[in-house]
Amino acid sequence: MTMYNTNILCIGAGYVGGPTMAFIAYKCPHYRVTVVDVNRERIAAWNSDSLPVYEPGLDKVVRTARGRNLFFSTEIEKAIQENDVIFVSVNTPTKTFGVGEGMAADLQYWERTARQILNHSSNSKIVIEKSTLPVKTALAMERILKSNNNGVSFDILSNPEFLAEGTAIADLENPDRVLIGSRDTESGIRARDVLVEIYLNWVPRERILTTNTWSSELSKLVANAFLAQRISSINAVSALCEKTDADIGEVARAVGFDSRIGNRFLNASIGFGGSCFKKDILNLVYLCRTYGLEEVADYWERVVRINEYQKERFVLNMLNAMFNTLAGKRICLLGFAFKADTGDTREAPAIYIAKRLAEEKAEVVITDPKALPNAMLDLNKVTGVTYEIDPYKAAEGCDALAIMTEWGLYKGLDYRTIYDSMTKPAFVFDGRNILDHQHLHEVGFNVFPIGKPALAHF
Ligand code: NAD
Ligand code: UDX
Repeated sequence: MTMYNTNILCIGAGYVGGPTMAFIAYKCPHYRVTVVDVNRERIAAWNSDSLPVYEPGLDKVVRTARGRNLFFSTEIEKAIQENDVIFVSVNTPTKTFGVGEGMAADLQYWERTARQILNHSSNSKIVIEKSTLPVKTALAMERILKSNNNGVSFDILSNPEFLAEGTAIADLENPDRVLIGSRDTESGIRARDVLVEIYLNWVPRERILTTNTWSSELSKLVANAFLAQRISSINAVSALCEKTDADIGEVARAVGFDSRIGNRFLNASIGFGGSCFKKDILNLVYLCRTYGLEEVADYWERVVRINEYQKERFVLNMLNAMFNTLAGKRICLLGFAFKADTGDTREAPAIYIAKRLAEEKAEVVITDPKALPNAMLDLNKVTGVTYEIDPYKAAEGCDALAIMTEWGLYKGLDYRTIYDSMTKPAFVFDGRNILDHQHLHEVGFNVFPIGKPALAHF
């Protein structure tokens, strides 16, 4: 019978690998947790006072565990040799080339990791898929890991991560569920139980779901597709509200009161962003097409299409409200991150909107408490964009404000002072419906929310 020590390794120190492993180390001082990455700068940042990921509560978790039982390193081969339980949390972006370009998951980082594990293992290991992957990836992993006949055996588990950015630590502390997929063989079940034991350190048994490997892999894609579908549904209805004087807030409340529907995740917006939703739905769509399920693929693809439509609709509404020309007008984007409480800007709707406004020859001023460094990278080829950390200075002399991210700080700004410093007529486009629209209107703004009647002075 294979014996495993519970020294834990994670390959990939990104938004998922870093916080997830830091949290296991924090909760389980009796385990030694190592996180490795090919990216030296990232590992150096994890070892510094300025972590590479901004997450409320993460600093404390890392400070408590780092150096005690949490280690960040670039010595991947050594770490593979020394650990028997290996999470793999490398990136699985959408392919940008060849077959499946723009749709399928790019598994090159994943496969490289599998080969590295194979080449540096001299005893049996449990390999855990933490990355989000197409269903049946574990089969490919098994085939690679069984390609050497050196007597070393591997059990592959699927353990997708459901944390959301901005609330990662709270989600890890109190997950709705932990999902573990395994083979239904003696060694598969033994490996599964090793992982169950790790989570039992803080997660109640009834929240740890065990399934077969393929259900687990597929459930992750489906959970993200369902969540994104809710946002596309409410955003689609927001367009109809704007035509009919219905109010999307009231509609969402009325619909969400039905306990079968539920009231969460129904905030109309400029569209969903983040590194997961679009990528994972496209991954699902590609899988369906691969299996010849064209209708199913088309169904899910519409979720992404409505999201594109919502972003463009926001720009067209701005153009229309501001007398059909934005050329030379200064527009302040309040927020740039794809959601509040993160500096992450991957797939942020603000990227698309800033580019479209620049195309219309507007001068775009961007402010965000955490995301300006990423915004500068995202827009480095776009001319006519400036960056300002102070929202009051950013708004000065602007014709319009547009809320891109629902940062709490934007609710508490003094909009009278801001209004006084702006060019008139002054506009607010609230892409997150977080501001007090009536108050803004009284101050003098022309206010254009999402899915609600506009409050204009003309
Ligand atoms: P990320 O890009 O932030 O991190 C991935 C890390 O893996 C990078 O630092 C990269 O350098 C490293 N890496 C790549 N190849 C490597 C190799 N061969 N050896 C060592 N390190 C390597 O990505 P992320 O946001 O942490 O996402 C990781 C996975 O988790 C993805 O599959 C994603 O879909 C999934 N996921 C992400 C989230 C999220 O909120 N970001 C949530 C749930 C699931
Ligand atoms: C998502 C999933 O929630 C998480 O379970 C998974 O592990 C990774 O993908 P994340 O992308 O980090 O997490 O954030 P999430 O809170 O889901 O928000 C995604 C996007 O949807 C953001 O741009 C957010 O602003 C937007 N959103 C969310 C809305 O527009 N309206 C809503 O009601 C909720």
